[in-house]
Amino acid sequence: MPLSERAVTVQASPIRRLAPFMLQARERGVKIHHLNIGQPDIETPKAYMDAIRGFAEKVLAYGPSDGLPELKKAISGYFGRYDIAITPADVQITLGGSEAIQCAFCIVGDPGDEVIIPEPFYTNYNGFAAMVGLKVVPVTTRAENGFAMPPIEAFEKAITPRTRAILVCSPNNPTGVIFTPEELDELALLAKKHDLFLIGDEVYREFVYEGSRPKSLLELKGVEDRVIVVDSISKRFSACGARVGALISRNQELMACALKFAQARLCPPTIEQLGAIAAYKMSPDYFEPVREEYRRRRDTLYEGLCHHPGVLLKKPMGAFYMIARLPIDDANDFAQWMLTDFQLDGETVMVAPADGFYATPGLGKNEVRLAYVLEVPKLHRCVDILLKGIKAFNKA
Ligand SMILES: Cc1ncc(COP(=O)(O)O)c(C=O)c1O
Repeated sequence: MPLSERAVTVQASPIRRLAPFMLQARERGVKIHHLNIGQPDIETPKAYMDAIRGFAEKVLAYGPSDGLPELKKAISGYFGRYDIAITPADVQITLGGSEAIQCAFCIVGDPGDEVIIPEPFYTNYNGFAAMVGLKVVPVTTRAENGFAMPPIEAFEKAITPRTRAILVCSPNNPTGVIFTPEELDELALLAKKHDLFLIGDEVYREFVYEGSRPKSLLELKGVEDRVIVVDSISKRFSACGARVGALISRNQELMACALKFAQARLCPPTIEQLGAIAAYKMSPDYFEPVREEYRRRRDTLYEGLCHHPGVLLKKPMGAFYMIARLPIDDANDFAQWMLTDFQLDGETVMVAPADGFYATPGLGKNEVRLAYVLEVPKLHRCVDILLKGIKAFNKA
């Protein structure tokens, strides 16, 4: 029976492609250190767990499609702490940031329309774009200059009559880059000039290790009706399994459309929203030790790798990822070989080949994405395994 072209051609997750080799290695008794996936090991806050354990209703009923009013209020209060004025009406609770991305894509364009995204980018944008028939148009950022945002002219050149939106993720997965306020201001002007939406994926907002707090697209002036922000508690509160996120926009016409999509999937998870409310009520001091822990991890991985001959790696500023260019021919072969053929005293490292994070074929071939979501001593061990693995791979 024929399947849709969309279903057949959509890209499989490059982060999960190597899973069968990982499982075989595990079956052989090899211990695998996961640098391939952004699953934080920081404990989910006790306040969150207490709230969900305290659920005492006799019926777990459907909730409102746009989320529990108290959570919408808590999220607008959270932004208020950064002097970003949004109201609960500007917030729709989604099933993770993932549903917010999907919903934003549904709203900004029709099949065949285009969304411009700096590459390398969070690879699941591909899947969501494919679901709704949007075409992702990349603007390339490069390892040589630490994946800094390209000049605004590069974005303008990518605009066609089908362009509907520009999506930026800051702090960035997979590069760790944070876009400057000036760069975002330039994007705002461009969006206004060409009548485009601006989508900001800001799920890593707290994870910043250099400089001041990153500017949110919600702070841009003159484009309030064009901005859509994707948010999530997955990383903020180390609660990836909760599946609670938010779509935020001051454009009420747009929010009314978002609500129609939300009504089709009925409601976000009720109990997990109660956990999220409790987490948002915690003091902002919660983030300080978490940030310090990630900073130590970043420094460990960066310092361990950056001096090695043939490695190209600039210090990432935020999120918990970096893309490293390695002295190897093919990162896909290397990542697979690390699982099938290599071990150091019974241990190996799993990395994500970076080519899947680019839309332009051929880019990222000798680059890997590393997520620093392990404790510092484990990261020291990972560096040792990786460097010895690179040496052995090049001899094999
Ligand atoms: C940049 C970015 N956006 C969105 C998401 C989606 O996260 P979730 O659906 O768990 O909120 C992720 C997850 O890794 C991400 O890295």
